[in-house]
Amino acid sequence: MRQEDAPDVDLENYSGKVPVLGVCYGAQLMAQKNGGNVLPSNIREYGRAKLSKVDQHNDLMKEISIDSQVWMSHADTIAELPDAYELIASTASVRVAAFKKKGEDTYGIQFHPEVTHSLEGKTILRNFVVHICGCAQDWTPDIFVETTVAGLKAQLGDDKVVMGLSGGVDSSVAATLIHHAIGKNLHCIFVDNGLLRKNEFEDVLHSYKDMGLNVKGVDAREQFYEALKGLTDPEDKRKAIGRVFIEVFDAEAHKIQNVKWLGQGTIYPDVIESVSVKGPSATIKSHHNVGGLPDFMKLKVVEPLNTLFKDEVRLVGKTLEIHQNILGRHPFPGPGLGIRILGDITPEKVHILQEVDHIFINGLKKAGLYDDVWQAGAILLPIQSVGVMGDERTYERVVSLRAVTSVDGMTADWCHLPYEFLADVSNEIINTVKGVNRVVYDISSKPPATIEWE
Ligand code: XMP
Repeated sequence: MRQEDAPDVDLENYSGKVPVLGVCYGAQLMAQKNGGNVLPSNIREYGRAKLSKVDQHNDLMKEISIDSQVWMSHADTIAELPDAYELIASTASVRVAAFKKKGEDTYGIQFHPEVTHSLEGKTILRNFVVHICGCAQDWTPDIFVETTVAGLKAQLGDDKVVMGLSGGVDSSVAATLIHHAIGKNLHCIFVDNGLLRKNEFEDVLHSYKDMGLNVKGVDAREQFYEALKGLTDPEDKRKAIGRVFIEVFDAEAHKIQNVKWLGQGTIYPDVIESVSVKGPSATIKSHHNVGGLPDFMKLKVVEPLNTLFKDEVRLVGKTLEIHQNILGRHPFPGPGLGIRILGDITPEKVHILQEVDHIFINGLKKAGLYDDVWQAGAILLPIQSVGVMGDERTYERVVSLRAVTSVDGMTADWCHLPYEFLADVSNEIINTVKGVNRVVYDISSKPPATIEWE
């Protein structure tokens, strides 16, 4: 806030006219601009804290426990509130944890109600949206489907839309909505980059066709393997995979006449993550350089899910009767197995990893553990180790299994899978996948590790 280019907002436009809730920096900004005092704190608060005082008569703090756990993440602190403001919550070390402007629906909270570690954060947000803003809380997936399909019909008319599908939840739900609105004018493209799971291309393509989507499967495996030959650096591999995807998609999109729109499965967290507070010049890079972009990127973009969170997307998918084998899937990264094969990528390594991954994922499903895990997969390590099979010495590959629990992928814990299950999977892998003689289990959480190894 004391920096020259610190983000600012014209509070006069909102304060007193509509309900305002400032969170963390927003609360500090509000206090500072109205005559309060924000100072670097002696006691930095990061992580869990407990409220020590709560004004439960205040509309924002209704039903919040006196010792409610909240999540703090700030270095500066509000030392003094402006005169017209009243305190509505404190923690032991942060006196101004929440406040209200007297006679106005203007509130500030120093902690983060939006993260799961603020255990009653959702109640605070509901208090604000329902009790203070007066929203009816009448969102249902059925109404969303109805209004979105009607909106898409009006927006797209007889225009054609091209869209890349990944087999994931978001693109599948977005495509189904657009398909409900414009039918065969939606042209879907599903690319086999040679880095998908075992049988994934055929299975997913089959499901899409079953759903009535106008989808074309493109086998581009060779193109991807060729571009990846000899690359070992994770970022180089990611870039190569992204570049070839654009080339393949662009070539396919060109085959469709008179396309006007590009459909995308963007959801609200993607929108938030891509916004920079410093404004368009810092955020938008290639998009402004339209001349150098592939043709499909010059199309107008239609993103029917860009106001929804993942759980809402799943509810919409259920309403649209999308099959559970698509809706219930674990997340899978765009670069696929390419970032789970450490070192260079060859078709032989992809084949080994596909087999290992298949045994692990199928095992989770058979043991009824798949839905308890947020994401799981196998990683092929760039080392070999000595083993013994029968009377023979072996010198073969090592794979690591990774399974995590998480809410949003931003933080994750390793999954405490039963030992017996891990033993069975390990045996099956070593006994049936040629070239692998050792299985290890990754017990790192995020942070400090990440979910993927590259
Ligand atoms: P990390 O490894 O950063 O992963 O903890 C968090 C989540 O993001 C996925 N991930 C990706 N998804 N393209 C994607 O579409 C990528 O390049 C990529 N890298 C990581 C990862 O699978 C996990 O769900």
